[in-house]
Amino acid sequence: MSHPRVEAVAGEARAAIEGAASSAELEAIRVRYLGRSGGLTQILKSLGALSPEERPQVGAAANEAKRELEALLDARLLATRAAERRRQRESERPDLTLPGRRPARGVVHPLTRVQDEIVRIFAGLGFSVAEGPEIETDAYNFEALNIPRDHPARDMQDTFYLSPETLLRTHTSPVQIRAMRAQKPPVRIICPGTVYRRDVADITHSPMFHQVEGLAVDRGITMADLKGTLTLFAQEMYGPRSKIRFRPSFFPFTEPSAEVDVLCFLCSGTGCRACTQSGWLEILGSGMVHPQVLKNVGYDPEQVTGWAFGMGIERIAMLKYGVDDIRLFFENDLRFLRQFA
Ligand code: DAH
Repeated sequence: MSHPRVEAVAGEARAAIEGAASSAELEAIRVRYLGRSGGLTQILKSLGALSPEERPQVGAAANEAKRELEALLDARLLATRAAERRRQRESERPDLTLPGRRPARGVVHPLTRVQDEIVRIFAGLGFSVAEGPEIETDAYNFEALNIPRDHPARDMQDTFYLSPETLLRTHTSPVQIRAMRAQKPPVRIICPGTVYRRDVADITHSPMFHQVEGLAVDRGITMADLKGTLTLFAQEMYGPRSKIRFRPSFFPFTEPSAEVDVLCFLCSGTGCRACTQSGWLEILGSGMVHPQVLKNVGYDPEQVTGWAFGMGIERIAMLKYGVDDIRLFFENDLRFLRQFA
């Protein structure tokens, strides 16, 4: 039934189909031989030009070749498409061995870390956390703490006044007054908080910073209790070999008053840059609560005594982490903060 003219085209098409490597190639072959102007279509279109004898032979052979090639193409396309889908699935299969994407994790701010550590140590000694407002009255911030009218700290230059009677607290000491007015002795509190002073920011000053206040009032409390408590604190904070020393000082709300130094934890006392060769680092102010302050809150200084201290969180954190500019704590530069992860 075949015809040499048809066979020439059909043979070529069969070979092309055999050699095709993709469904796209097969589609191109279909167009080339069976499409509108394809090789076999041309033959069928030109049947009219043939002799009456040749016409049915070529016509039948061309129609048969057309059916055969279509079947061949369909079968090959089916197989190729299946293989192509398989390959695509393979390449798109998720790689279960890839590590997951970690969600970005924040870090605790260094000042919060230091504050938490201080609070944790005193909580372990039976102190509870007390808080007070950042907007305070002159009465609590100064008057009740025995700070006289003419004290330089009350100067407009040093305090942010909101009105003649209200201000941004300049220290956490007014929380002592609030706590003592709210409860009877014994009192054992630790008060972390933000404080404000009219200072121009530089490497050691910031108009906003943080303190932790401590207060213990009971019958028979002495300066030895203060020294013992602060020694325990230093050993928890800076290691079991840490030591403290008292230096006489003055605060209007304590008598006697002492500045407390801790043995330099960087050089263990031999002298280095951090402790300016002295071997000691000043970390807080403290003293026995002034009898007048006890009276101001309605306590009887003949019955109870107490001690108090106040320390700056920034200073402790700067020493602990070797930070040489206080402003770094407040700039929120993630390159700085991420180092505390
Ligand atoms: N309030 C003081 C300050 O801001 C620190 C201080 C010193 C607090 C001695 C105390 C204390 O409770 O007894 O500089």
